[in-house]
Amino acid sequence: MKLIDSIAAMRSLPRPLGSEGEGPGARAVVMTMGALHEGHLSLVRHARTLADQVVVTIYVNPLQFDEKDDYESYPRDLDADLAMLEGEGVDAVFAPSDAVMYPLGQPVVSVSAGRVGQVFEGAARPGHFDGVLTVVAKLMSIVQPDVAVFGAKDAQQVIAVRALVRDLNLPVRIEPAPTVRDEDGLASSSRNVFLSASQRADALALVRSLRAAEQSAASGAALPKVLAAAREVLDAADGIEVDYCEALGPYDASTPADDFAGEVVIAVAGRVGETRLIDNATVRIG
Ligand code: PAJ
Repeated sequence: MKLIDSIAAMRSLPRPLGSEGEGPGARAVVMTMGALHEGHLSLVRHARTLADQVVVTIYVNPLQFDEKDDYESYPRDLDADLAMLEGEGVDAVFAPSDAVMYPLGQPVVSVSAGRVGQVFEGAARPGHFDGVLTVVAKLMSIVQPDVAVFGAKDAQQVIAVRALVRDLNLPVRIEPAPTVRDEDGLASSSRNVFLSASQRADALALVRSLRAAEQSAASGAALPKVLAAAREVLDAADGIEVDYCEALGPYDASTPADDFAGEVVIAVAGRVGETRLIDNATVRIG
């Protein structure tokens, strides 16, 4: 496994033989901020089924944190991350410094996530998706992948990244991979380490609310009723300050009509103590 920290070295990494862009021979990227867990590793395994060469990026992107404390306390452990990725047979890891990614400090030009950046997670974290899309666009330009794998766990991030490649015509295929959960059902997250045992139990209301939405949808309920079923669980829960429980439209996270039929993402977010958690489930309405 090659460890790369310069843009020139990343751009000159030889592509696998027979690479024509898609299918066998292709290069896949999994972008991460490190502190890797099973969720990240599942993306790496998914990437391996799509491409002959798997590149993982590790970079804690300052541009996407709105609170300085959150950025500074974000868990970092490069040695442990590299050991895990080596075990997964990753071909190369691109782990740049801040000086490589943002030589001027703040970039002069950056990407705006538009409407997607202003609602739900974007409303809770102003500027977050602009920062995400700016670093994703940069990493795509540096790694030049044929396909990029993103976790469905961050549903709004997938919508934002799809909008980025669609609206700016970037030649990269976006592949979502399913959410990995810890044994108790909580979506695996680097932030879970901040939860005490009792906070973890409180956090499980998020998963329970999504199960209620799934059951409601399976029984044939319309979207408003499905959302009400999820909200009922959250309203009754202790120890969690719920931020939102909403359906996300696929193109720009706009709210689908009440008579919507088809597959839709139900997304929930809340704070347990100081820790902000998100989760979602895809349900079929009608
Ligand atoms: P990070 O939070 O490290 O997540 C990296 C990737 O792992 C994302 O695609 C995320 O959706 C996925 N992931 C995290 N937890 C998961 C889980 N439990 N199951 C499945 N996938 C999971 O997301 C980011 O970093 C950053 O915003 C990034 C895209 C790297 C840009 O800086």
